Amino acid sequence: MKSVPKALALLAGLAGLCASGPASAAIDWANVPGKDVVLYYPGQSNWEWVLAMNPVEMPGAPYVRQGKTCRACHEGMEDFLGGDIVTGTDRTQMFADNAVLPPIEPTPIKDKPGAFTVTAKFAHDGSNLYVHLDVDEGQQPDAGQDPNFATKVAVMFSPSRSPDVLRTGCYAACHNDSTGNPGATPGVNRTEYLGRTHARLTRLGGGDALKPADQLATLRAQGYLLEYWQARLNPGRPAVPATLAVFDKREEVANVVSADASYAGGKWSVTLRGPLNGGPGLISFLPGQIYTVAFAVHAGHTARRFHNISGERTLAIDAGVADFIAVKQ
Ligand code: HEC
Repeated sequence: MKSVPKALALLAGLAGLCASGPASAAIDWANVPGKDVVLYYPGQSNWEWVLAMNPVEMPGAPYVRQGKTCRACHEGMEDFLGGDIVTGTDRTQMFADNAVLPPIEPTPIKDKPGAFTVTAKFAHDGSNLYVHLDVDEGQQPDAGQDPNFATKVAVMFSPSRSPDVLRTGCYAACHNDSTGNPGATPGVNRTEYLGRTHARLTRLGGGDALKPADQLATLRAQGYLLEYWQARLNPGRPAVPATLAVFDKREEVANVVSADASYAGGKWSVTLRGPLNGGPGLISFLPGQIYTVAFAVHAGHTARRFHNISGERTLAIDAGVADFIAVKQ
């Protein structure tokens, strides 16, 4: 019986491939304008660290509480942030007379680049949304954390108008007590979660207690959700797509995404395709709405928090005021 799940997985994989074909086939990407986004290495910075733990370490904290976004201050200095954090040595705070701050990366990966650039393009064909990412990850040391995949490229979407998602993107889901962060309980696996699903969020994180079911249902109805489309990659091998959702925890859900990718000289070119109407529990992308998007890349066989991330960006379908407009091709 041992081989049955394996066979099923293989069939499911084949069905996915056959039904979808190459993700990028329908779009002429040369005609779609792209934008560069710099992905920095965040170390153990997380929601509680940024907003509450230590305003000396993150001078922007009071301003985020008043409504500023992370990118308002940090766009253009991602190279500095990543470079300062990734080595795991003392950090230098240039805005406070070069004050020296303690590291926020206790287990650094030797020679890891602190930041790199992703060029992102979006398009749709009336039934699918397409994301094309040129990822210039450069030469990455092998961290040996994920033996199965060299690189994992993800795009995050959210329809939520909740301030945590709008202002901070992925940081809304990254908490002090999630696995790998400073407040994690050793041996306890706690994934990412959105803060407002939890009964109480303190400087230590949200713990285990959730809001009552009716309040969780209201949050879900308001689109309080992060959805990730991920391509899991090895050079010369087919991309493996995955769909993940974050609400009160992060879960891999039934996959709705297809992906293809190619690699040359430290650069990945990745296309992800998913339905505009994701169905129950997933996002429906509608014209006239603005979605938060962000990007994350696990390069060099890394797992969990050892990724490079972007600040929050915005996406509109067909038209709107946003960083990216997915126009019908
Ligand atoms: C009002 C401006 C402002 C806002 C808004 C802001 N920050 Fe900062 N942040 C700063 C400044 C200034 C520093 C210190 C940089 C330095 O001098 O090294 C900093 C430092 C950091 C650092 C540590 C970098 C290092 O080199 O050690 C991280 C990580 C960070 N911010 C993340 C965020 C995130 C995530 C958000 C959104 C939730 C955010 N910041 C919002 C101004 C801001």
